[in-house]
Amino acid sequence: MFGKYVLALAVTLGLAAVVGGRGAADAAAPARPAVAGVYARSAASTPPQLGAAVNTVMLGSADPRYVRTLLAHYASVTPEYEMEMSQLEPARGRFDFAPADRIVTFAARHGLPVRGHTLVWDEMIPAWLTRSHPTRAQLIGILHRYISTVVSHYRGRVGEWDVVNEPLTRSGGLRQSLWERVIGPGYIALAFRFAHRADPHAALFVNDYGAEWRDAKERALHRLVAHLRAEHVPVSGVGFQAHLRLDAHPPQAELTGVLRSFAALGVRIEVTELDVDAAGSAPLSQRLAAEAAIYRAVAGACRAVRACSRVTTWGITDAASWLGASERGLPFDAGYRAKPAWRALRAGLTPPV
Ligand code: G3I
Repeated sequence: MFGKYVLALAVTLGLAAVVGGRGAADAAAPARPAVAGVYARSAASTPPQLGAAVNTVMLGSADPRYVRTLLAHYASVTPEYEMEMSQLEPARGRFDFAPADRIVTFAARHGLPVRGHTLVWDEMIPAWLTRSHPTRAQLIGILHRYISTVVSHYRGRVGEWDVVNEPLTRSGGLRQSLWERVIGPGYIALAFRFAHRADPHAALFVNDYGAEWRDAKERALHRLVAHLRAEHVPVSGVGFQAHLRLDAHPPQAELTGVLRSFAALGVRIEVTELDVDAAGSAPLSQRLAAEAAIYRAVAGACRAVRACSRVTTWGITDAASWLGASERGLPFDAGYRAKPAWRALRAGLTPPV
């Protein structure tokens, strides 16, 4: 599979230099762009930052507990869905930044860095695009315009982006997204190159789920990132979503080894969407204790690898989780009371005294 990918990547990089308006010299641009203003741990003893996915519905709710809990405990935010393509460009050429701007403005007011999520994904593609059946050249043009418009709009206010979200299938193949089907595997390099050109200071991530274990998907993601870096594609980070379950989570040592193997590629690491589905028939106290152990293991694995600079939970309270309230996946319960998962998350992130 990667023979095809490497050839496509080489062809596309040349194309990117044309579409992106860059000369050959740019094509050899350093694969490690400066990332001003993006949190990195100054020492191994410095704990990873804690972030949360937030959305405009909850930020605008009359219940003060959401914002109070966010500002009391979290140090960065990710818009949960307001920066998806279908939200930002609902009609061809018509951009609606208002909802995402509300989150970015809120974050700036409170000094919280923002993770842009996500520029290119197989989901949340607006209907006008899927219905248009674009040619390869047309879709490359659309991709270039979209990324350039969005990243330029947030330049200086959003310090890092999930540029490509979930490029791989659960078994490690290339996901047959619109982008992959029409452009080919080289869409990944194009997206990063377009984003880097729009904001050379932003940290640019590939973000995926299910690579927290040593298995086929983790190996495929590692090969993908290694190829991109070898081709001087400006990939500066890898996001591990870490949507885990009581019956599906990696031992801390295994996750630590995975994070270390990616850090060895010279990229930053983040846990980007942590939650633990705690649904089940066991007594609730047992499920919450098991959930807490998983939170502590993930936090401890990130802390053990200096390149892992942040853990973001995919929400704050069970009252507002994509999983649903009954899955109790987040650190605070529906009444904003700290669960065992919260105490375990903090303990895992904080170095022992
Ligand atoms: O709030 C609006 C509502 O006003 C409107 O009437 C309704 C119908 O259009 O949509 C509502 O927004 C929905 C939002 O969830 C809140 O429920 C969006 O349409 C819907 O797309 C959005 O789903 C999000 C999903 O990604 C797709 O964007 C989830 O919140 C979000 O948690 C989920 O997050 C994904 C990550 O991006 C990638 N990794 C997996 C993760 C979980 O699926």
